[in-house]
Amino acid sequence: MEYFSKNKKLNILFVAPEARPFMKVGGLGEVMYSLPKALRDLGHDARVMIPKYASMDVEKFIFKSELRELKIVSATADQTGLFICNVLRYDNEKGATEAYFLENEEYYEKRANTYGYSDDAVRWALLSRGVLEFLKQSVWKPDVIVASDWQTGLIPNYLHTVYKDDPALSKIAVLFSIHNLSYQGMFDHHFVSDMDFDSGQEEIPEFDNPRLLKLNFMRRGIMRADAINTVSPTYAREIIMPEYGELLNDLLSERRSRLFGILNGINYEDYDPGKDPNIKINYNVKNISRRKGNKAILQNKFNLEEKEDVPLLGIISRLTDQKGFGLFFDTARSLLNNFNFQLMVLGSGDANFMSFFQDLINEYPKRVAGHFTYDETLPRLILAGADSILIPSKFEPCGLTQMEAMRYGAVPIVRKTGGLADSVVDYDPREQIGTGFVFEQFDHHAFYGTIIRALETYQYPKFWEGIQKRAMKADFSWTNSAKEYVELFKKTISLHNQPIA
Ligand code: GLC
Repeated sequence: MEYFSKNKKLNILFVAPEARPFMKVGGLGEVMYSLPKALRDLGHDARVMIPKYASMDVEKFIFKSELRELKIVSATADQTGLFICNVLRYDNEKGATEAYFLENEEYYEKRANTYGYSDDAVRWALLSRGVLEFLKQSVWKPDVIVASDWQTGLIPNYLHTVYKDDPALSKIAVLFSIHNLSYQGMFDHHFVSDMDFDSGQEEIPEFDNPRLLKLNFMRRGIMRADAINTVSPTYAREIIMPEYGELLNDLLSERRSRLFGILNGINYEDYDPGKDPNIKINYNVKNISRRKGNKAILQNKFNLEEKEDVPLLGIISRLTDQKGFGLFFDTARSLLNNFNFQLMVLGSGDANFMSFFQDLINEYPKRVAGHFTYDETLPRLILAGADSILIPSKFEPCGLTQMEAMRYGAVPIVRKTGGLADSVVDYDPREQIGTGFVFEQFDHHAFYGTIIRALETYQYPKFWEGIQKRAMKADFSWTNSAKEYVELFKKTISLHNQPIA
């Protein structure tokens, strides 16, 4: 069979709400840049398709017109719900197409943000349907579509219903990628009445039907995809259990022979402390001591006392419940009152976290600092200057920050869950192994104790530097994971030809 010939180059289309460098909100946008790139480096033709947002820099990126007046009907082929879109294309310097954009004035162009509108169900259904209508007409066809998160969950659904017998689309396999199971649609899935419950079986309603807002896009993606993956092996195992399954654990468990986990990587050229133009003092594993210059710059910039030997803990994160900073509520003051360290917080998110950290800044001037809006370059400054980065997540599908931190010699302090468990090895002082500090239970005693372990170890520079060196040498580049993805794509294609289990 041709797909299994070793050197078969695949056509792959990633569909997502965001992709760097065009639009990035979080980790998903980063992966939608770095994974297709890694696949292209392996010789595959990987492209990405996202909406065309108003905030995209059209001066910087030259978009070409790919297809004008793409007509999308909202469900069955009557003319009641007709949406007109265009498809734009971005080719790189070498002339190769890297990205497509679905253009629609009303649903994307007029919106300042990527997420968070009351008609998001329509916006994402339109994207899903628009991608498939585009592919029907496109000469270039993917062997596999990779649909990411709930926003694209209707792609597998449409492919296996409306377009099941469409000669242009029926050969395309679909992989559904879960980057975060806790968002499943427009509503909070923990509080759905029996009447609103979406079993995933009913036909997808017309876009103007309010029932569309009640669909569980995530469930539908999982149900109908040829294969499903998530972004770390541990999270793939966790989500079939009630504790992490977000009420979809039974479904995921039923489909577990098609459920895979591949750890994300990071782009090693972009994240290179030896070359990073965003930091003042470049360094590498052979001259880690140069980091202290960056620490001083960071302390100065944020009004922290400029002290080389006081450990500086950093946070670079969305400030949401998932990230686990609730563990600080009962512990931060006791830690700050009893131990000498500094804390730098960068992130935005829920008001309760932001006001909590703001209070700490007021109470502990010169020791706690924060910046609560998104910033492009500040994360690099913190990665290069902080001694340690805190990621105590309740759950973490993968997490990229711990990998970036290790690459920059900032020792991660993490909870053992999802991708954090798969990437950070707990420090063992007897064996002198480990790349960070890891705690298991999500409770504030475990958290507190682990911070103390890190602060104490920091007092022994030789040991601390050993951890930094091992962390910096650990390999989280995409090379291996991208190869695993190629194998998964091949598997997805072969599963596509078997009936859905
Ligand atoms: C989501 C997850 C995060 C993951 C990222 C990229 O943001 O919460 O854990 O690293 O997607 O896959």
